[in-house]
Amino acid sequence: MSKAPVKVPNCSVKTASPAVEVDVLPVFQDASGKAVVAKNAYAKTLERLRKSAAFTAKFPSTQFLRLAGKGKAESLCLVAMGVEKELASDRIRSAGGHAWARLVAEKADSVAVHLDALVGASGEASALSRATAFAEGLLYGAYQFNEHKSKPVDAAWPKTITFVTKNAKLAKDFAPELKLVLEALRAMNVTRDWSNQPSNTGTPEYYAAEAKIFAKEYGLKCTILGEAEAKREKMGLFLAVGQGSEREGKIVILEHAPAKAKKTLVLVGKGVTFDSGGISIKPSMRMEEMKHDMTGAATCMGAILLAAKLKVPTRVVAILGFTENMPSGTAIQPGNVVAARNGKTVEIINTDAEGRLILADLLDYAHEFKPSAIVNVATLTGAVGVALGKQCCGLMGNDESFMSQVKAAAKSKDEKVWELPCWDEYFEDMRSDTADMRNSCNDSMGGTIRGGVFLKQFIRKGTPWVHMDIAYTGNGVTHIPYFPKKGGTGAHVRTLAALALEMGSDDA
Ligand code: BES
Ligand code: MN
Ligand code: ZN
Repeated sequence: MSKAPVKVPNCSVKTASPAVEVDVLPVFQDASGKAVVAKNAYAKTLERLRKSAAFTAKFPSTQFLRLAGKGKAESLCLVAMGVEKELASDRIRSAGGHAWARLVAEKADSVAVHLDALVGASGEASALSRATAFAEGLLYGAYQFNEHKSKPVDAAWPKTITFVTKNAKLAKDFAPELKLVLEALRAMNVTRDWSNQPSNTGTPEYYAAEAKIFAKEYGLKCTILGEAEAKREKMGLFLAVGQGSEREGKIVILEHAPAKAKKTLVLVGKGVTFDSGGISIKPSMRMEEMKHDMTGAATCMGAILLAAKLKVPTRVVAILGFTENMPSGTAIQPGNVVAARNGKTVEIINTDAEGRLILADLLDYAHEFKPSAIVNVATLTGAVGVALGKQCCGLMGNDESFMSQVKAAAKSKDEKVWELPCWDEYFEDMRSDTADMRNSCNDSMGGTIRGGVFLKQFIRKGTPWVHMDIAYTGNGVTHIPYFPKKGGTGAHVRTLAALALEMGSDDA
């Protein structure tokens, strides 16, 4: 059961334009609302378009022109960048995303991206960051999930991409950046592959086997705990969730341990391979989407792989809890009381609030790795979509300064996050008459916050912690031009790797 290698397009950097099928040319818009004619091989074409206003370079748009043998390339793909003064990094990335979508739609095979066109009135100081953002946007959408088609499918996207600049220094500086972009894509594609895997193939055992393969390739330590070990660790809540399933739960522990690391970041991921709701069964409409309920674990996986490739100086541990939430004769029942690893007892009001149960034990276990900070990532509540929509990930935490660090990491990658309160007042709702606490209440008030406050009970004093509720940002997001439109997004992988990098830099 070994997997196909993660596919990414072939990319290179050159100082002269090769013969390709499609030239990709970013174009700015001027203050009068027309395309800027820059000095390049396509100036005449642009001049003509400018006169007829056929292409105004207003963001977001693209224009595809057949060149009929006039130029080196067969076609020209113009990419609108909008007004240069308004050019922020995410606009550049988004423009790259639109370019990719157009190239795929036009079935382009070999393309040359003209990076020098990204340097307008701003001068060369911004050349490298702009080239990198454009490459990110172009490439981060390069994902297709074809594993379960009966015939092998070749990735339907440009097979060779040449980034061209006449500026030798930019070419030299950009080459390593491009490598990192491809590493980020590779890591996100692992997250996406895992997230999209159906639950009959994507079993806890499958993810454990996959993790071992990737650990070897990326130089990570990898330990797998089965249910017997979980029992020895007294992980009553983790085991309770899986007790209705025929499949054995697995806890995957991955470790990136640089020799001189001073800090440890522990990532904890919810890996429910299928969430039927259990005895508190979900309605059948869209239940198939619950194969994605392990996206938190998949996100932590992508993050630790990327952190390893970036050689972050922080020690990073990922604890991924895989199990299946099923109704059966052996399943937990509403009203059952179960003891957690930390000794606290939980009355299970709703078996569909299972994510917090498995995370509770994993979070307690996370302290064994002496963390400087813990981040858990989970598709925890439908309520986060009600509160924040698909556009934004919900954050909760117990430490202002660490929360700021997580927010800063997200901002550096243009990934949207928003903090919700994690006040103890909310825990009053979680008290149980029978046990120390209950896992849900019978109304839908503050659903996301209640989930976070429940998790907080398992964080020990003095350990900074942030909970990321990715129930709606992890899958099926269509508003980010540089992410795939269906299934796992790969969101937050870059944020978490950036966090690990940042934690290492303030060691002193
Ligand atoms: N996996 C779900 C959350 C979810 C819902 C993810 C929709 C993605 C899309 C989670 O286990 C769940 O069922 N949560 C319940 C909690 C409730 C019973 C307190 C929910 O959100 O309804
Ligand atoms: Mn559930
Ligand atoms: Zn769930």
